[in-house]
Amino acid sequence: MRKLIVGNWKMNGLTSDLDEIAAIAKLSATFASVDSGLCLPATLIAQAVWKSPGFSIGGQDCHMSDSGAHTGCISASMLSDAGAVMTIIGHSERRGDQHESDFDIRGKAEAARRAGLKVILCVGESADQREAGVAELAVLAQLDGSLPDDCNGDWLSIAYEPIWAIGTGRIPTMEEVAAIHLAIRNDLARRFGDAGQGIHILYGGSMNGDNAADLLAVPNVDGGLIGGASLTAAKFEPILVAAAASAAE
Ligand code: PGA
Repeated sequence: MRKLIVGNWKMNGLTSDLDEIAAIAKLSATFASVDSGLCLPATLIAQAVWKSPGFSIGGQDCHMSDSGAHTGCISASMLSDAGAVMTIIGHSERRGDQHESDFDIRGKAEAARRAGLKVILCVGESADQREAGVAELAVLAQLDGSLPDDCNGDWLSIAYEPIWAIGTGRIPTMEEVAAIHLAIRNDLARRFGDAGQGIHILYGGSMNGDNAADLLAVPNVDGGLIGGASLTAAKFEPILVAAAASAAE
């Protein structure tokens, strides 16, 4: 499977960063064996698409309705209209800060699909759950509650992001990553058959140039969702290098 490397800019980025986004797009285009993109604040999507045509730009959330009386919210069709081709759904920062439930996330994923967007659906355990030995159970329960009924059409990816690894510089052991990714793969295959085998399962949480090669070599790690290390071309480059090297193996 081709590796998919997606940056998540979170609540970072002003128009003064459009040149950096263009630099990341230009850099990414030099890695022909790797699929890549950036999920940006909604305010930057249209300008980024205009400045870097052909580079995959995405959003970080969408509403579960296509339009209506939802002040401050953004629909999937608005993202698509701005030029986005994908969106993150169910990031743990939204599950936490905005109290999004699995039910909400499933509705948002379906709305994004209706608008023709690819979806990166995030799951991941808390530090307490990891500590208590129920990380796998927690992740499978999130999948159970938030996965749409069918995934035909190559629109869905899953991102496994242990909450305690996000922005902390701490990552699970490669064995722990392998175990969760295998559990997710088995769950997807059980639900969706062959289509489930083809769904990208990304790892996210403090992935950077130093650990990307090891993480991307773990079975069923089909790419990465990268926060801090996606904010500059200089930090993003070694991750793309690692992904291209693993594609060449
Ligand atoms: P991080 O964020 O790479 O800064 O840990 C990853 C994410 O939250 O998607």
